[in-house]
Amino acid sequence: MNKATRKAVIAGNWKMNKTPAEAKALIEEMKPLVAGADCEVVLCVPFVDIPAAIEAAKGSNIKIGAENVHFKASGAYTGEIAANMLKELGVEYVVIGHSERRQYFGETDQTVNLRTLAALEGGLKPIVCVGETLEQRELGYTETLLKFQTKMALTNVKASELKDVVIAYEPVWAIGTGVTATADQADEGNGFVRAAIAEAYGAEVAETVTVQYGGSMNAKNAEELVAKVNVDGGLIGGASLKAADFAVIVSAASDK
Ligand code: PGA
Repeated sequence: MNKATRKAVIAGNWKMNKTPAEAKALIEEMKPLVAGADCEVVLCVPFVDIPAAIEAAKGSNIKIGAENVHFKASGAYTGEIAANMLKELGVEYVVIGHSERRQYFGETDQTVNLRTLAALEGGLKPIVCVGETLEQRELGYTETLLKFQTKMALTNVKASELKDVVIAYEPVWAIGTGVTATADQADEGNGFVRAAIAEAYGAEVAETVTVQYGGSMNAKNAEELVAKVNVDGGLIGGASLKAADFAVIVSAASDK
């Protein structure tokens, strides 16, 4: 197993942007531009956009994802959304533990783990985000932190389930800032994630897991980033809101 045999996944993370009508229009614009992709193409959209997005993406190679999922199957959790609700709509992927959720909504390594387990149990493919802050990087904790976050997120996940798990290395200091990690920094961070998976599951399994880079990936820098041996695609925020830019990133990952 090596990079060439791992599945590259380019996933857009729309965050809190686009109404259902706007979602439909953007997907219609994207469809022809990404039709020839030789990688997995995913758009993770706000919950209320999901039905319109699924409808618009029908018959195309675009898969639809959500941006969060609750860790219980049902119950008294006002305002939350369960995996089976998403699954029934046709959702395939779900972002879990994005740094904005960790920063603003009290997400912890433990809740990230519980959400990951619930997603897998409900038949969704989790895109689990890990990443260090600038302060943690400057203190020299990047490797320790990425390994810890990765292992915590995957606690009780079976080796056989890892084929459905994507990990996104997203340095917090690179998200939405326009400051991209260098290709070498991205490769190193992704390598730490893969090493953590190897420590927990063995090197052979680790070689099969898709590890994305995310953080100011754009049409200009995508090619260099996805060319790195440990970078299997990307989680794209800002640039996934522009059809032409997103299409360039998809094509960079297809050429790798
Ligand atoms: P960005 O966001 O591409 O806008 O930096 C990436 C992310 O938050 O997933």
